[in-house]
Amino acid sequence: MREGCKHIVYKALAAVRPQFRLHLAGGIHGLPHWSRVWFHDRALAAAADVDPAVLAWFAFLHDSQRHNDRRDPRHGHRAADFAVRLKKDGVISELEPAAFERLCEAMRLHSDGHTEGDAALQARWDADRLDLGRVGTRPHPARPCTPYAQRGHVIRNATKMAEGRPCGTVDRPVVVSGLAPLSHLKRDPSRR
Ligand SMILES: [Fe+2]
Repeated sequence: MREGCKHIVYKALAAVRPQFRLHLAGGIHGLPHWSRVWFHDRALAAAADVDPAVLAWFAFLHDSQRHNDRRDPRHGHRAADFAVRLKKDGVISELEPAAFERLCEAMRLHSDGHTEGDAALQARWDADRLDLGRVGTRPHPARPCTPYAQRGHVIRNATKMAEGRPCGTVDRPVVVSGLAPLSHLKRDPSRR
């Protein structure tokens, strides 16, 4: 795990885990997906001046308020509302007001299929789209917003990663388990 943002990932999981309604460890909207979104977003942001804290918070919060693994059009809005609560409670403490607003905007709009936005928003959305292979969908090269995510080899490698197949890149995501360090957290037994 990238050392500089490790504390953010643990803070995010500590907040998300007790209330997450879906399958955290292995579901299509759980930790493996969030880990790959974080990985893709770091690659997308490599050439840009982006606060790495935004990428970590986006990856581990954007699907945290899903009510189901199917169509759930309001989950991005709920994720942004959740982030506002975390900010008020002092859990999200690294982001300046402008960066926090951008994080919320990226989450609010990520579930609506948007392609129009500035480069930062497009990168967050493409990081999510590049992982569509986990549900059997290979992104069409015309679908992502950014030149990086439209590249054939990027889509191919991302799809292989999502499917759990070997891919051509040396660099690959480390799936954050987060479960052992957080095992002391109390969970709502009515939720998985
Ligand atoms: Fe997602």
